[in-house]
Formats: sequence, C-alpha cells, structure tokens
Amino acid sequence: MTEEADHGQTSATHGSRIDAYVDRYAARAAGMVASEIRALFAVASRPEVVSLAGGMPYVTALPLDVVGELVADLVARRGPVALQYGSGQGDPHLREQICEVMRLEGIEADPNDVVVTVGSQQALDLITRIFIDPGDVVLAEGPSYVGALGTFSAYQAHVVHVAMDEDGLDPAALAETIETMARQGRRIKFLYTIPNFQNPAGVTLDLSRRRQILDICNRAGVLVVEDNPYGLLGFDGEPLRALRADDPEGVVYLGSFSKTFAPGFRVGWALAPHAVRDKLVLAMESAVLSHSSFSQLAVGQFLATQPWREQIKSFRELYRDRRDAMLGSLEALMPAGCTWTRPAGGFFVWMTLPEGLDSKALLPRAVAERVAFVPGTGFYADSQGAQHLRLSFCYPEPDRIREGVRRLAGVIEQELRVHETFGTSSPIGRNGVHTPAPDIA
Ligand SMILES: Cc1ncc(COP(=O)(O)O)c(C=O)c1O
Repeated sequence: MTEEADHGQTSATHGSRIDAYVDRYAARAAGMVASEIRALFAVASRPEVVSLAGGMPYVTALPLDVVGELVADLVARRGPVALQYGSGQGDPHLREQICEVMRLEGIEADPNDVVVTVGSQQALDLITRIFIDPGDVVLAEGPSYVGALGTFSAYQAHVVHVAMDEDGLDPAALAETIETMARQGRRIKFLYTIPNFQNPAGVTLDLSRRRQILDICNRAGVLVVEDNPYGLLGFDGEPLRALRADDPEGVVYLGSFSKTFAPGFRVGWALAPHAVRDKLVLAMESAVLSHSSFSQLAVGQFLATQPWREQIKSFRELYRDRRDAMLGSLEALMPAGCTWTRPAGGFFVWMTLPEGLDSKALLPRAVAERVAFVPGTGFYADSQGAQHLRLSFCYPEPDRIREGVRRLAGVIEQELRVHETFGTSSPIGRNGVHTPAPDIA
C-alpha cells in the first residue's frame, strides 16, 4: 500500500502502522531499513524542485515510437514464446548478443557463461546470496553504490571500505586492507568495484591500476566483482578495457541495459567463471523461476534491428552536454572551499563541502530552496560521508542543471555564513541507516 492510500484507511487492521510481526522477522531483515530522508525525496520529486538526486537515465531520448512498434511486432509475431516462461539462464540468442556488447570492452566470452538477470541489481543480489554468510567481509570502494550496500547489508555482510582517489580504487590501500583483514582472521569473500564513472564518485579506475588490482586480488584469493553499468557511456574516446578481459577466472562481471537502452525492461547480466555460473543459475531459479521472456526478446530485438551503437553514442553526447553544464556552473558559482570530481562519463559528480558543513543538514534547506541532491552518508556502510554529496547530471536538461546548481550554491553560501557565525551546522537525525530510496540509486 502506498503512503497516500494508507492515509485514507480507518479500519484498525488495514493501514495500521503497528507491526504485529516485529519479533518474528529473520535477523537479516534488520539490515533492510528505509531511509530517514525518504520523506524529503517525496517533496523533492515535485516539479518545482530541480532534482540533482536521481540516477535515472533520460529515456525520453529513445526513439519511443520505434520501441513501441518493436514491442507490438514482438507480441504479434512471437507472442507464444515472448509470453511464455523462459529458462533460468536466459535467452540463448540474447546471451550471444550480450557477448557482442562486452567485446567493446575487450571481453571474449562464451554465451554459456552469461546469466541474464533482472537488471544488474539482481545479479548483485545473487552473487551476494551465493557467497556471503553473515559476518563475511566484502571490500568496496568508499564511497560505493547505495543499491549494492543495501544488498550486502540485507545478507549481513560486513562491508569494509577501501580508499580511492581521482584515479579510482587505490591499489596500496587495497593491499593494506587485505593484510589487515588477514591479521584479524576475517574472511574476505569478494571485492566489489565499479571501475568506470563510478557511482557515486564519478571517477574511473586508471588503466595502469587495473592489472595491479587483479594481481593483488589473485595473490590473496579474493574474487573481484566488477560492476560496469556505465562503461559504454564515456565522453572521450573508446570504452576502457574491462578487468574481466584480463582475468576470466578471477572476475565476475556485471552488465546492464538500463543505462544504454532502458531500465524499464530490467535486463542485466552476470558473466562468471563456469562453476560460479552454475550456482548463479540455481540461485536465479530459486529467486524468480525464470526471467521475463518478453523483456529479453524485446531487448534482443532492439539490438538486432536498431543501430544500438548509434543510440549509445547519442546518449553519450546528451550526457556530456549535461556534465559540461554541471561542471561549468559549479566552477562559476560554488563558494570557495567546495571541491568536486570531473567525471569523464556516466551520471555523477561527487562534491566535498567546506570543513564543518554537513550535507544531510543541508538537504532540508536545499529542498526548501527547490533543489535536491543525495547526502554522502548513504554511500558508505559506516558513518562516513557527511561532508560529501552526490549530484546527478543525467536527468534534468542543461538549463535546469544550471539553475539547480545556482540554488545549491546559494544554500551552501548561506550555510557557510551560519557556520562562521555559530560555528556549526545543525544536523538532522544523525542516527539510523542512510540508504536512500531505490528511485534515487
Ligand atoms: C553501479 C550500479 N550498479 C548497478 C545498478 C543497477 O542497475 P540495474 O539493476 O538497473 O541494471 C546501478 C543503478 O543505478 C548502478 O549505478
């Protein structure tokens, strides 16, 4: 039931907020906590608010009439297959097409090693499900993707963040963290990394670091989970070589059509070493029996009949203009002491506030001034991140981005004045888990 529907209920049982089952949930349900800032985002989704919060791709730029025809044609011509159950591993032809897509990043793969998933989010869930026992360690960049942190938390993993800088994950910090974990007798199950145009930091793992990271993980017997939904959305030059391209046995690669085509189809995939692939298929079957045949065939049809490389190119140009609008206005308007990353692709800029300011305290004021962002704390599994925030440039038009940055700069300036006068920001609700709602992942 939605919040709105809930308000209308008067009966004692329907819509009651008292949870009669509160003491019966599995321990892992304690890790599934909604964000305390969710309510603010309900306000932030009003049209007068410029949302620099959401990570939603700009699907309006797709040839929607063509997609509509393609879908209608699919039902008319292949309805009995498209509307039927499919296999646990995914449509064989789509898996071949996925291998062709991955070839753009230097990956040579057998379609047999691909498992189609319900977005790459499900691939994350399945990987975590088959590898994690409560308390097992997952290494992840700090900051990292909020949806992955939510999944790790739901399976009671212990996330240990590894430092990164403008060149991505720091190999020395990774080696040191692995040693520390070994000394403490803690079991690392995998390294979760987003090498390209990272969510939320916008940075990209330097090519020279990629080999080092693979070597460090190989030596320590740590599996690498390479999450790469933005890899084809680079603004300059060719896609970078994937980690998986150089280590088929040591890497599980996650891909998605959400950012290069449309998230509404919910088609992603995992490419895994053979034995891991087997486990993923079993986990997949237990989770959803089979995927949507319809979605898979629709994506397959799009790839087979449409100029998808051109489509990706036009997305890249669109997002590059928006990135430029954001960086240009940040440069022109942000008060001294603010710094930010300069992404070469993807959707996100990561901003650092001047010393002493708290992004979560800033959010209600920003929303009152009709601009929204995601506070940095949601991107860490521990309590870090208060001095940071994520700005997305993927969804609003360039002029709206400039206006949003102008409003935000005003809020920060005002906050700095308060800080100079009273010496502190006034944080709201510091306790609790900061995971934002999925719509802003
Ligand atoms: C880094 C990262 N991984 C995975 C996902 C999940 O994408 P999907 O399930 O739509 O493929 C997202 C979505 O924003 C993301 O940013």
